[in-house]
Amino acid sequence: MSYKVLVSDYISQSGIDILKEKVEVYFNHQLTREEFLDIIGDYDGIIVRSMTQLDKEALSRAKKLKVIGRAGTGYDNIDLEEASKRGIVVFNTPTGNTISASEHTIGMILALSRNIPQANEALHQGIWDRKKYNGVELKDKTLGIIGLGRIGSRVARIAQSIGMKVIANDPYLPPEKAEKLNVPLLTFQEVLQRSDYISLHTPLTDETYHILSHKEFAIMKDGVRIINVARGKNLDTQALIKAIESGKVAGAALDVFEEEPIRDSQHPLMKYKDKVILTCHLGGTTTEAMDNVSIAAAEQVLAVLENKLPESPLNIFSIGAQEFNNLKPYLALINKLGNFLANWKGHERIKEIEVEYGGELTEYNSKALTTSLIKDILDPILDHRVNLVNAYLVARERGIKIKESFLKQPDELKNIIRVNITTAKGNYSLAGTSLPIGCRVIEINGFRIDLNLDGKFLIAIYQDKPGVIGKMGSILGNDNVNIASMQVGRKNEGGQAIMLIQTDSKPSVETINKIKQGLDFVELSYLEI
Ligand code: MLT
Repeated sequence: MSYKVLVSDYISQSGIDILKEKVEVYFNHQLTREEFLDIIGDYDGIIVRSMTQLDKEALSRAKKLKVIGRAGTGYDNIDLEEASKRGIVVFNTPTGNTISASEHTIGMILALSRNIPQANEALHQGIWDRKKYNGVELKDKTLGIIGLGRIGSRVARIAQSIGMKVIANDPYLPPEKAEKLNVPLLTFQEVLQRSDYISLHTPLTDETYHILSHKEFAIMKDGVRIINVARGKNLDTQALIKAIESGKVAGAALDVFEEEPIRDSQHPLMKYKDKVILTCHLGGTTTEAMDNVSIAAAEQVLAVLENKLPESPLNIFSIGAQEFNNLKPYLALINKLGNFLANWKGHERIKEIEVEYGGELTEYNSKALTTSLIKDILDPILDHRVNLVNAYLVARERGIKIKESFLKQPDELKNIIRVNITTAKGNYSLAGTSLPIGCRVIEINGFRIDLNLDGKFLIAIYQDKPGVIGKMGSILGNDNVNIASMQVGRKNEGGQAIMLIQTDSKPSVETINKIKQGLDFVELSYLEI
């Protein structure tokens, strides 16, 4: 592959080595924003952690970018909507640092309860003060977890094993999962009111921005302890400081901050050394987690560059390996139908694409198939890249209506896909089926045919009358165009008919003109599929 990948945040060497086997890699985690903006346009792929900001401005310069890999979980540093508009695949590696982030959280809870960092620092200065650094036990204390996802769940399990009572709030978690963990799911307010420790494990979204602020601190227990190893902006720093000053919050342990990195010893949080423990976004920074996310990000970047789906996409439908295998033959069929329609009617302005699925296809992931179809129809006819990421968006932007339906009576076939398109000039349809021997096109504009859609084709729609087929054969023969196969279909005698001629070579413009002049066709097209 002659692709170039930029790694602009620090990741472990294991991923870089994997990349280097197949692509050109530039690894520099110390680029200034200006330097980064200057070079981003040269790269096909990029791997970032949380420091590189892939915002609108950066993406507008990333003209060649096809894939963004987030080596880690949170992706609030990536403008997902803008990346999607530009057809850039974005994925993260959400499982690689679950253990590390959970263990860091537990470490923060322990450190906070036993004043470990403060006592350590004092003793290094020769101060032995057992009274000052008196702590509290965790057993029987209530830990309130906000966000019971992968990390929150693991924190819950460890905390339970050291005797804490764990309660949680997570509006998106199926109750059975919480039941399995033996964690009562309560309202957000209840968790705030009942907890001795509150640990945040939510991603940063509009909903979770400042999820803990003045109002929330006000209803917490006096002496509550706050832990944030998730995202800095989930916590309102000013509100936390006020709550520390008022004595409402006995201590806070923070690994993430509203602005990172902090390099200022005058930062407002630095005033509370005895109560606030700070680490520099170390949740996922262990040898094991760094290797995991680095390897996963590298492998998936390469997969996307090889036109495969990533394992944990953020802006593309997610599909398991088994399901993807089941869909493969239908994706191939969709690809043929889409290509045929793009070649045949792409020059007419497409206003609507409707796809009907029948037979066993009604049980499959139609979203994956329909997205592929839109891509296959629009990519060859538009002047910018249409892929699985932006296919729906592009269709919507162009005012193309997309409809999907399921055929209740699949007729005699095991599976069928019919695509109907409406253009500025008319309505057209194409149907196909996937058989063990390959894909067959079985219907064009309602005419029954049976064709393997590969090669060079002349398609004619004409009035059914004697002599048409003979004349067509003579013109092609005289011009030395060999007919490889031919099919005709009609709905009724004397009505409109369709003729599909597969040729061994491309008929010249003169030959096509001769056909047009010699035969009174309603329509004649030449396609190469
Ligand atoms: C993450 O979102 O995975 C963590 O913040 C760790 C990191 O990548 O820095």
